[in-house]
Amino acid sequence: MADAKTETQSSNQMWGGRFASGPDAIMEEINASIGFDKKLYAQDIRGSMAHATMLAHQGIISTEDRDSIVSGLQTILKEIEDGSFQFSRKLEDIHMNVEARLAALIGPAAGRLHTARSRNDQVALDFRLWVKEELQKTEKMLSALITAFLDRAEEHADTVMPGFTHLQTAQPVTFGHHCMAYVEMFGRDRARVRHAIEHLDESPIGAAALAGTGFPIDRHMTAKALGFREPTRNSIDTVSDRDFALEFLSIAAIAATHLSRLAEEIVIWSTPQFGFIRLSDAFSTGSSIMPQKKNPDAAELVRAKTGRINGSLVALLTVMKGLPLAYSKDMQEDKEQVFDAAENLELAIAAMTGMVRDMTIRTDRMKAAAGSGYSTATDLADWLVREAGLPFRDAHHVTGRAVALAEQKGCELSALSLDELQAINPAITDKVYDVLTVEASVASRTSFGGTAPDNVRQQIAWWRGRN
Ligand code: ARG
Repeated sequence: MADAKTETQSSNQMWGGRFASGPDAIMEEINASIGFDKKLYAQDIRGSMAHATMLAHQGIISTEDRDSIVSGLQTILKEIEDGSFQFSRKLEDIHMNVEARLAALIGPAAGRLHTARSRNDQVALDFRLWVKEELQKTEKMLSALITAFLDRAEEHADTVMPGFTHLQTAQPVTFGHHCMAYVEMFGRDRARVRHAIEHLDESPIGAAALAGTGFPIDRHMTAKALGFREPTRNSIDTVSDRDFALEFLSIAAIAATHLSRLAEEIVIWSTPQFGFIRLSDAFSTGSSIMPQKKNPDAAELVRAKTGRINGSLVALLTVMKGLPLAYSKDMQEDKEQVFDAAENLELAIAAMTGMVRDMTIRTDRMKAAAGSGYSTATDLADWLVREAGLPFRDAHHVTGRAVALAEQKGCELSALSLDELQAINPAITDKVYDVLTVEASVASRTSFGGTAPDNVRQQIAWWRGRN
């Protein structure tokens, strides 16, 4: 639907030479992309300035025409930014809206701007520039989230909590170590962002419609002016490639999936039953009927946003699937998916960063839970291997009997008496109690990548040097 700023007219002046009548209203509606691709205005204008400058440098247009084109484009940039620009749906997209306004401002010289260029390489350029900037922004936001986790990990390198598998208490870990697991995940997301920036860092402009051009253009010059490493090498691929958008969406989908796992943990941890964290008022809401409630709405919404971001990836993969080379109008459907995913990923990362920074860690609750559920049973088994020379499988069996006895008595492993333990296996001595506490358990996990507090501190230092 046309928005308030969009006017419709009855004939299409852009290719009137061939067309006797204007498009049907429905044709105009299905065809127009201005409603969303106006977001690319700054990239479009920047690209046109670089193109006009190159055309003049190569003697393809005069320097007078270049100057009036560049100053006209500057005026248009101001008009769009101050809101006075009239977008027209009849002019389909951002490229033709800008060019038509340029003609109104500077006259016939505007018609020379499109020499040696097509909207096919123009849109590939604009969109690439936009995605590149978005990736750079995403990289910074992921770094801020990583910093938030590093700070919490440092604060809680010694805080014990239960580690889970199958969401059943498994072995004690430190909260710092758990935080660092997320640092690894978001660190990989950030590495993917950096790779994607490298992949897309090639300039499409000059591929023209699909075959290149006979004009003596200099694609290295425009590539450099627009901050790309080099120009793309194949004009057919250039106008039909949307890998950069697909890479952005797949990175976004994986990052959103990571965020959803964190969101889920926050939802679980903040229940009264777990009580591991308290969310700040700034990132929770109350209930309109139940006065006692504090709901983790932001975490729930982050969890949900993964659905639409993953959906955008599948949508664009499906648009691109089976498209013959080179450009097809199908590809106009790329932008809304990317814009929507980008907006929501930004929100999700920002909300998560705030929640992680602000949440209160309830160390007493974590510690109490860390010791329950026989979480140090593996430590008992390891002790039997180490100190009593039992094969691990036998030690596992002995420990199983100790757990069964503790369960029957309704107590923790460390509350079993030495007599009781020796009745199960006479090799057990009172030294065993040293490993049955959660603190001893985590301190003993010194293998590389393990949960021991000193390890965690080393990992934090390693990441600080890379963040
Ligand atoms: N609005 C179009 C898009 O987003 C621009 C390219 C149109 N090219 C064409 N030959 N119709 O894909």
